[in-house]
Amino acid sequence: MTAATMRALQATAFSIDSLALAEHPVPVPRRGEILVRIRAASLNYRDLAILAQAYIPTLPLPYVPASDACGQVVAVGEDVTRFAVGDRAIPLYTQGWHDGKPTPEQRTRRTLGAPLSGVLQEYVAVPAEDAVTVPPHLSDAEAATLPIAALTAWSTLQEGDVKTGDTVLVQGTGGVALFALQFAKLAGAQVIVISSSDEKLARAKALGADVGINYRATPDWHVAVKEATGGRGVDIIVETVGSTLDKSLAAVAFGGFIGVIGFVAGYEAKIPLRAVIGPMIRVQGIATGSRTRFEAMNRAITLHGLKPVIDSTFALADAADAFRRLEKGAHFGKIVIDI
Ligand SMILES: NC(=O)c1ccc[n+]([C@@H]2O[C@H](COP(=O)([O-])OP(=O)(O)OC[C@H]3O[C@@H](n4cnc5c(N)ncnc54)[C@H](OP(=O)(O)O)[C@@H]3O)[C@@H](O)[C@H]2O)c1
Repeated sequence: MTAATMRALQATAFSIDSLALAEHPVPVPRRGEILVRIRAASLNYRDLAILAQAYIPTLPLPYVPASDACGQVVAVGEDVTRFAVGDRAIPLYTQGWHDGKPTPEQRTRRTLGAPLSGVLQEYVAVPAEDAVTVPPHLSDAEAATLPIAALTAWSTLQEGDVKTGDTVLVQGTGGVALFALQFAKLAGAQVIVISSSDEKLARAKALGADVGINYRATPDWHVAVKEATGGRGVDIIVETVGSTLDKSLAAVAFGGFIGVIGFVAGYEAKIPLRAVIGPMIRVQGIATGSRTRFEAMNRAITLHGLKPVIDSTFALADAADAFRRLEKGAHFGKIVIDI
């Protein structure tokens, strides 16, 4: 009997132009696994960095990119009780990380979309323990935005102990930033957003942002942030930019929290240590979150009927255009691939 095949989008080189459809065998779920027919996937900055060979430079080629997806369970292996055929499921980005902290092995070797095979394909098989159910009010496309961007924003605010009345600074209007904006508003916080675009700032305000600062027009945005808080500074910073950590330290309140998430403006930052020590700032690296956190986040999303912000949707065959849009930074929220 010949194995069933499926469409998969693979990169044969480290370049967007190398992305092309290929025929791959449909995986067969083993004991404890579910086979998920993927309906939608979403892109993250990480996917772009990997494709540019800036993130996992020794990744063997070809590979199937992207980590975040939602689909329907179409078959289950022996001993699966967590899901039944017909259920919708979202695979965990960090396979095996269920609670607490991940092991270094899980963090570096068990992530979907490199080094594990990604989700820009019609089927994936994952352990039933390594997927979560879907908030019922979300479409497949909306649910596909959650595993990295939403969970990282959620984890950052949890680690920063967000409270009603806090002020949260969100950098940019990409995937993580807009989820952070939405979750911070749910928590009763004031939100300041910085962006390169006045038009995007207006859209962020329509989503609930209280203050918008254009970081192109106001390169000293940390001064403007301080002023917007009456000189007090912000309680939590969702640091997706990375190299601006010095400015974030100048904008954070005494005893505040900086969740260091990303590197869109570079991997290096030079910081004055006195800005950390005296004001007792917590600076903490954030790497997505566990299954337990994902499930708690989904309960909050369901309770509040929260809808992720989808920028645009592309067909699988046009995924290269989706990567180009991400690369240009033209997007507001999440870019989705319909599979
Ligand atoms: N540690 C983790 O677990 C984790 C998880 C998710 C993401 N990340 C990282 O976090 C970063 C953001 O990820 P993402 O998926 O949200 O990316 P994204 O959707 O591409 O958004 C990036 C946004 O950053 C803004 N930006 C670019 N340069 C900036 C600058 N100099 N100052 C302020 N904002 C700037 C842009 O917003 P405007 O267009 O509004 O200017 C852009 O839309 C990436 O480095 C990613 O790798 C890490």
